[in-house]
Amino acid sequence: MAAACPLLLFFVFFAFFVLACSEESEAPPESAYAVGERIYANVCVACHHADPTQNGSLGPAVAGSSRELVIGKVLHGEYPPGYQPKRPGGNMPKYTYLEERIEELAVYLEKVGS
Ligand code: HEC
Repeated sequence: MAAACPLLLFFVFFAFFVLACSEESEAPPESAYAVGERIYANVCVACHHADPTQNGSLGPAVAGSSRELVIGKVLHGEYPPGYQPKRPGGNMPKYTYLEERIEELAVYLEKVGS
């Protein structure tokens, strides 16, 4: 019995680590909204307000922006046809490297604050 105890302890710890690891790998993937929120917080807040429903130092409020507007402005530096910009200028640079994440940004901005 004395020899069995350390072995038992080993298995208990082993089982614990296996469970701990499998729990991590079963974590749900980050939602599109959460990814968009993170990108906004990392890139866009340089000019837009941290709260997208508010006007920023340079960029206007962008909460509720349509998918076309986000794609147009971020990837092409353009507005959808007939859109009345909130601020004049053309001071916002394009961020073409965000092409892969534009869907998430659009989901976030469309929903945030609504
Ligand atoms: C360097 C500053 C800057 C950064 C960074 C920036 N913007 Fe802008 N943004 C502006 C400015 C200034 C405007 C006003 C129009 C103009 O001058 O181009 C604007 C306008 C917009 C508009 C149009 C708003 C409207 O309804 O008229 C959208 C949408 C937008 N930005 C989204 C974003 C997103 C999304 C990001 C992050 C990927 C971002 N911007 C990053 C400066 C910036």
